[in-house]
Amino acid sequence: QSYKVAILGATGAVGTELLELLAARQFPLADLKLLASPRSAGKTLTFQGEELPVEAVSEDCFKDIDIVLASAGASTSKAWASKAVEAGAVVVDNSSAFRMDPQVPLVVPEVNPEAADQHQGIIANPNCTTILMSVAIWPLHRVQPIQRIVVATYQSASGAGARAMEEVKHQAQAILNGAEPQTEAFPYPLAFNLFPHNSKLTEQGYCEEEMKMLNETRKIFGTADLRITATCVRVPVLRAHSEAVNLEFSEPFSPQQAREILRSAPGVKLVEDWQANYFPMPIDATGEDDVLVGRIRQDLSHPCGLELWLCGDQIRKGAALNAVQIAELLIERNLLKKREVATV
Ligand code: A2P
Repeated sequence: QSYKVAILGATGAVGTELLELLAARQFPLADLKLLASPRSAGKTLTFQGEELPVEAVSEDCFKDIDIVLASAGASTSKAWASKAVEAGAVVVDNSSAFRMDPQVPLVVPEVNPEAADQHQGIIANPNCTTILMSVAIWPLHRVQPIQRIVVATYQSASGAGARAMEEVKHQAQAILNGAEPQTEAFPYPLAFNLFPHNSKLTEQGYCEEEMKMLNETRKIFGTADLRITATCVRVPVLRAHSEAVNLEFSEPFSPQQAREILRSAPGVKLVEDWQANYFPMPIDATGEDDVLVGRIRQDLSHPCGLELWLCGDQIRKGAALNAVQIAELLIERNLLKKREVATV
């Protein structure tokens, strides 16, 4: 059986990756529709050697679509997701619009695939940093429940979209040419610089990105009382995020045991060469499906603490790949809407 898929936000950084992944994973496609803003209507994108037209998203564009992969920002998802659901599609939404909605499952297939079974038309794809961390620490949490997480992120430009990635390159060029770097997508120059994540600040002093890590990790793990704190930082890396994660357990968790568990964990690749001081780096994670994990060591400040370092491709596992895996899950678990087969 094959399925009619629409990509909402097909021209964006994640949209482009969705196209590549659907082809590379040989997703069973009956039809592929590319949707974006009216600005992109008339453009074409290449899919498996074929030029496909991009359409402006509209009232009737979801007719007969089975799955919508949406990655066009929260306001676009809020405006169009319900229309897609009414038209009979299941929406896998990459934006923050529905993630904390109790009716909407928030799914990382390696962690909580069964949550997808409860969907009512929309499944949310978590925030990128949350996905990457969840994949890496869930296998440990299953063996011994994590008591507290302290995480610091080093987030690439890609999280702010294709335009932001171009901006960093132009800024670097400008600085090397002795000119002033221009800022548009970001509030400050990112090339040769870094700054605390520029999402909106909340009353408690955390930014929204940090609150997403707190709230979404709790929802995905199904542990509402998990203690977790995060500091999110934007760094001048193009497309893979890194995270320094400190985990506290109720009993000591040996680095060796953690290593053994992570060596065979789905979606994880252990990258550690202690002799060469070689550990995960964003350039190695770029274009990879797996989350690279390494530098696993005992926290010297706490007998039950464990430190680890991870890098993951923000556009792939942090967004597009996780969304495609959810779409695959919908098929595997028979969770798509049943359509009447038209009789002549
Ligand atoms: P467009 O290229 O027409 O602006 P990125 O995250 O890389 O910035 O990409 C955002 C994606 O979301 C693009 O495909 C963009 O299309 C799409 N998009 C942005 N605003 C809208 C909108 N109002 N309606 C539909 N698609 C939108």
